[in-house]
Amino acid sequence: MIEYRNLRVAILGGGSVGAQVAALLLQHGDELAARAGAGLELVGVAVRDVKAKRDTEIPKHLITADAESLILGADIVVELIGGLEPARSYILQALNSGADVITANKAVMANHGPELFEAAEQVGAQLYYEAAVGGAIPIIRPLRDSLAGDRVSRILGIVNGTTNYILDRMDVHGDDLHDALAEATRLGYAEADPTADIEGFDAAQKAAILASLAFHTTVPLDTVYREGITTVTRDQVQAARKAGYVVKLLAICERFTDAATGVEGVCARVHPALVPLDHPLAAVHGANNAVFVEAEAAGDLMFYGAGAGGIETASAVLGDLVSAARRHVAGGPGVAESTHSNLPVLPMSSVTTRYQITLSVVDEPGVLAAIAQLFSDHGVSVEAVSQSVRDGQAGSAPTATLVIVTHRASESSLASTVAALAASPVVSSIVSTLRVEGLQ
Ligand code: HSE
Repeated sequence: MIEYRNLRVAILGGGSVGAQVAALLLQHGDELAARAGAGLELVGVAVRDVKAKRDTEIPKHLITADAESLILGADIVVELIGGLEPARSYILQALNSGADVITANKAVMANHGPELFEAAEQVGAQLYYEAAVGGAIPIIRPLRDSLAGDRVSRILGIVNGTTNYILDRMDVHGDDLHDALAEATRLGYAEADPTADIEGFDAAQKAAILASLAFHTTVPLDTVYREGITTVTRDQVQAARKAGYVVKLLAICERFTDAATGVEGVCARVHPALVPLDHPLAAVHGANNAVFVEAEAAGDLMFYGAGAGGIETASAVLGDLVSAARRHVAGGPGVAESTHSNLPVLPMSSVTTRYQITLSVVDEPGVLAAIAQLFSDHGVSVEAVSQSVRDGQAGSAPTATLVIVTHRASESSLASTVAALAASPVVSSIVSTLRVEGLQ
């Protein structure tokens, strides 16, 4: 029998992830100890309501309402409360006492990451957060460790399962947004208040975390451009499929050089986008997540799997727990988070991408030429145009729907083109403007 040194593990939060981490730790303790090289003794689970009914039972003697005492007696603290406070204060308290901290909390990492990393560095502790992005999917460790020798140029992520489920239903079942959201709520993907998911706040937090890590730069949450999916219509999703695309809510992190200023920087953005049907992200269905990473030497990589769920997220937390225990056994200080590149965060107006613009126009001679001229006037190059014609009302001219796909153009050029189209007498209406991502 191998005698291991014992590490005391405290869990903060007894929700679905906390209860699953506790259960798996108690169930597989010997196996985890063998992998970690140290015994992992669960010393307690701090909860807000000790009497609350839980789907996964936690042994009664481990439950406490006294988080602060639990933190003081722990070598490793696992924060699974979520939200900003008291999670942030507890993490700081744990780090300041020299404990390593594991968190699944994207909000606290996106809002307070630099403060927490600084606190960890001060005492030589380590902060682990694999479960904060993509649930069960290994993405933090691959970016931090496996790709540490490479240069990441772009990340395209489906990092919100609720919105992927909704958009997938609109695509596969022809639901409208309202019905798809109702189904997501019924299945427990969407919260009673779905704002954080459908308005893109959840994905923006994850984008800030991924961009900071991938580009060795602090990318503040308030610099992340964000649009949700509430303006996406069933007609857009159906038209997209006919044109060879699927609509996805993407978190996009890019490193690029601003063409106007020559400044190299980074930008993180979240918005619905058209993804070509032959792109690997187009095959991500239901509530699954996937993160597509483009790196200079490695080329394209995709990380795919369950982005949420109690036991799935517990898998990522336990992976961090084994890593933390190994570090304790090896000794020495934790590895500080790398922000050595410290690149500027570029504004959304500097981003270049491709666009699909759908216009309703009167079908008369000269209309196409006038529209092409508007694009040209604003420096936006048209790649493809397709037209379908509908008969007009009796006595009026037929109308045409024009679908225009551009070459790469800047957000600012596109915005001025769209404003000019809206003011043009030959355009009846702008049906939709969508960014196209993932084309070579
Ligand atoms: N609400 C998130 C989602 C899960 O729908 O993916 C936790 O980040």
